[in-house]
Amino acid sequence: MIVPVKYEMDRLLILDQTLLPGEERYIEMRTKEDVWEAIKKLRVRGAPAIGVAAAYGLYIAVRDLKTDNFTDFATQFHSVKEYIATSRPTAVNLFWALERMERRLLAMEDGLCFAPSWNQELEHIKEELLKEAEAIRREDEESCLSMGRHGLSLLKRGMGILTHCNAGTLATAKYGTCLAPIYLGQEQGYGFKVFADETRPLLQGARLTAWELSKEGVDVTLICDNMAATVMKQGKIDAVVVGCDRMAANGDGANKIGTSGVAVLAKEFGIPFYMFVPTSTIDLDTPTGSQIQIEERPGEEICEMWYEKNMAPAGIKTYNPAFDVTDHKYITAVVTEKGIVYPPYGENLRKL
Ligand code: MRU
Repeated sequence: MIVPVKYEMDRLLILDQTLLPGEERYIEMRTKEDVWEAIKKLRVRGAPAIGVAAAYGLYIAVRDLKTDNFTDFATQFHSVKEYIATSRPTAVNLFWALERMERRLLAMEDGLCFAPSWNQELEHIKEELLKEAEAIRREDEESCLSMGRHGLSLLKRGMGILTHCNAGTLATAKYGTCLAPIYLGQEQGYGFKVFADETRPLLQGARLTAWELSKEGVDVTLICDNMAATVMKQGKIDAVVVGCDRMAANGDGANKIGTSGVAVLAKEFGIPFYMFVPTSTIDLDTPTGSQIQIEERPGEEICEMWYEKNMAPAGIKTYNPAFDVTDHKYITAVVTEKGIVYPPYGENLRKL
């Protein structure tokens, strides 16, 4: 199964998702600017994968730093961390992973003075930072497998399943969040019929979900976003599964623009709506979805991208929020790596 971020032979490699499905090309990240640009431009995207890329990216951006003491190293590390954090605002995993890396660094200060020289000490610090990035990647992969097992317990053989955006292996360290149960079901002959929303404007559903599922032999049908109500009404959908970029303490979940509309439709048609949320995506410091900062992207993504020529009047006003917030009342259950959470979310997420 393809993975979006690899650290191999001292090189940080990112599968350039802007080239999919036409071309499978890994690009090397050498500097903090490379990492920032790759996240900003969605070469690497999906909340957990952004976290993994940021953690390794922070490491590669400081691995050649030479300083005279710990404080100078920590100061420069902090400014790289702050810089990478400005790449995208909504997915909390970006900040979570960067904070975790910094906590690991600061925790080492007390254990210094074991090595005979500061230079050796510094090498040790860098090795530990690499290990932390590797742990973030490994734990995300394990978490996805675990979400896959919990998620599969909610699904039955032969079900029709609708998904929006891409919360698959491309969006995580491996396996995906909401696509993990589909892959596990595929291995066990569940015979799911997946419907993938194309996901305007950046087409993560068409370019990424349809690509990765069909590559693994899953029965997947691509539909336009505005066809979701029709397939629901026709009885083709038994469950909706989606990922999440940030879940607030009350269970409101920010995910790719269009998710909340699908959730409202699912409720109307009596279809369960499951949001897959690793605990690294739960932000208990944000009380409700209204406090989640929603990224706004350039209007050219709506009017020009993917079209041979501009398909809207020149100079037209556009509004392009990249995410929306699904109100917790539309979410049937939240699937985490630690288990399935049901309402009341305010209480039950905190118990996790
Ligand atoms: O803008 P993107 O492509 O990074 O948005 C990704 C999504 O909204 C995913 O559905 C979400 O990150 C969950 S990924 C497991």
